[in-house]
Amino acid sequence: MRITVVGLGYVGLVSAAGLTTWNHDVVGLEVDRTRLDALARGETPLFEPGLDGLLEEATRTGRLRYTDSVESSVPQAQVVIIAVGTHDGSGGWQTETIRAALQAIVPAMAPDAVLTIRSTLPPEFVPEIVGLAHRLREEVGAERVPVLTNPEFTRESTAVADFLQPDRVVIGILDDPVGRGVRALKRVYRLVDAPILVLPAADAGMAKLGANLFLATKISFANELATLCEAFGADVDAVVHAMSFDPRIGGSFLRAGIGFGGSCLPNQVAMTIRSSREAGLPTPLLGAVDGVNRGQRVRFVDRMSRMLDGLAGRRVALLGLTFKPGTDDLRDAPALTIARDLIDLGADVVAYDPMPNARVRAAALVPGLQVVASVQAALADADAAGLLTEWPEFAALDWGSVRSLMRGTVVLDGRNALSPDAMQAAGFDYAGFGRRIPAAEPRSLAGRPAITSHDGDVLSEIASAATGAAAGKS
Ligand code: UDX
Repeated sequence: MRITVVGLGYVGLVSAAGLTTWNHDVVGLEVDRTRLDALARGETPLFEPGLDGLLEEATRTGRLRYTDSVESSVPQAQVVIIAVGTHDGSGGWQTETIRAALQAIVPAMAPDAVLTIRSTLPPEFVPEIVGLAHRLREEVGAERVPVLTNPEFTRESTAVADFLQPDRVVIGILDDPVGRGVRALKRVYRLVDAPILVLPAADAGMAKLGANLFLATKISFANELATLCEAFGADVDAVVHAMSFDPRIGGSFLRAGIGFGGSCLPNQVAMTIRSSREAGLPTPLLGAVDGVNRGQRVRFVDRMSRMLDGLAGRRVALLGLTFKPGTDDLRDAPALTIARDLIDLGADVVAYDPMPNARVRAAALVPGLQVVASVQAALADADAAGLLTEWPEFAALDWGSVRSLMRGTVVLDGRNALSPDAMQAAGFDYAGFGRRIPAAEPRSLAGRPAITSHDGDVLSEIASAATGAAAGKS
C-alpha cells in the first residue's frame, strides 16, 4: 500500500521504517529541515537500537523516501498516518502541531484515502478531530475521508521489535461509516501476527492510557513493597520472584528503585490527574502512584546523605543519566532531579553515562553537574557511587578494582542492578531499595534529615513516611 507518515520523530520514524518491512511504499513527510537533511544523508536523527539498519534497508530497497512537500506525498497516499508530537515539553499536552498538520494534510488527501492518527492524544481533543477533518474537506469541496486512530505501544530502546512484533494492534474508530477505513488499516497490518482490536476511538485512547497508567502503578506498588520489605526485614527481589508465579500477577514492571521516568509514564500519570481534577473527578490511586514515584528520588538522596553522614563536600559519582538503558533520552530522568538535589545539599557530583550526548545535555540542564567521558573518571576519588541507570556495563564493572579507585566505600544502587553479596565481598557499604543486606546493615539508614527537593512539596509527606519506615529497620 502507499502510506504517508507525517512527522518523523520517535513514533513516526519507527513506524515509517517498520511499515516498509511489510512491503508498503512509505513516504515520510517532515517539516524540520535539519532532521530531513540528516535522513537524506543516511543519518538517523535519534538513538534507537536497530533503527539504523531498518532505515538503511528501507531506503536501499526504495520503499522509503523522505520529503517536506505535501503535494508530492499526500495526494497519492492510500493511508495517511499522523505521528506528530503532542507533548508541550514541560509535562503537558499541546495540540497546535497536530492541528497545523491536519490543516496542511487533510485537504490534500485523495477521496479514497484514510486518515489515521497515531500520535497520543489528550482525551478531550479526540472528539474535536472528526469535526476538524470534515470541515477541512468541506472547505475544499472534497468528500469526507474515514478518520481512525491507531495508538502505539512501543517502548524506547525496544521500539523496533515492539513495532514489528506487537502484542496487539488497536484501531480506534472516529468516523468510518462504511468500514472502508478499518479495512484499509487491517490491510496495513495484514502480515502482523497479533490480534487486531477495533474499538470506538474513546476506548482505543483509553486502552493506551490505561496500559501506561497500570505500568506506572505496578512500579509504584513495587516501590512501596520495597519499603515494606525494608521495614519487615524481607527482600523485595525474592518477594517479587515468589509473587511472579501467580499468573494473575506476573513479574514484569515490579523492579524497585528510583522509579519511573521518560516521556510517557510520568507525563501520562500527571496529565490524567490534572484532566480529571479539571473534570471534577478524584483520582486518589494515581495521586499515590505519582507521589510514591517522586518520593523515590528523594529517598535516594536522603539515603545517600545518611550513608555518607552528610553530603556537604562529598564527591558523589553518578552512574547513568538517561531515564533507562538503551536510550539517550533524558526526559523526566530521575537522575536529573537526584543530581540537582545532591548538588543543592553541597555534594560535588560527577556523572557518567555511556551516551555522550546525554552527558552534554545533562550538564546543560543541571547547573554544577560535572560530566566525564569514562566511568573510571567518575569513580576516581569518589566518596560514594550512585547507580541511577542500569546500563549493563555498570553491572559488568570489576568492582574489586573500583574499590581501590574510590576514596570511600558507599555504593547506593538506585536500580537494584548490582549483586549485594558481590558488592559486600568487594568491600563496599552497599544499599539498594528493599533489598536485604546480609551483614552490616548500613549505619547510614538512621535518623531522618529534612531534605528539600526539586520535585516539590508533595514529596515531604511521602518521603518522611518512607524514610521513617527505612529508619525503623536500622
Ligand atoms: C513506556 C511504555 O512501556 C510503553 O508501552 C509506551 O508506549 C511508552 O511508555 P518507555 O517510556 O519507553 O515506555 O519506558 P519503560 O520501559 O516503560 O520504562 C519507563 C520507566 O520505568 C523507566 O524509567 C524505567 O527505568 C522504569 N521502570 C520500569 C522501573 O522503575 N521499574 C520497572 O520494573 C520497569
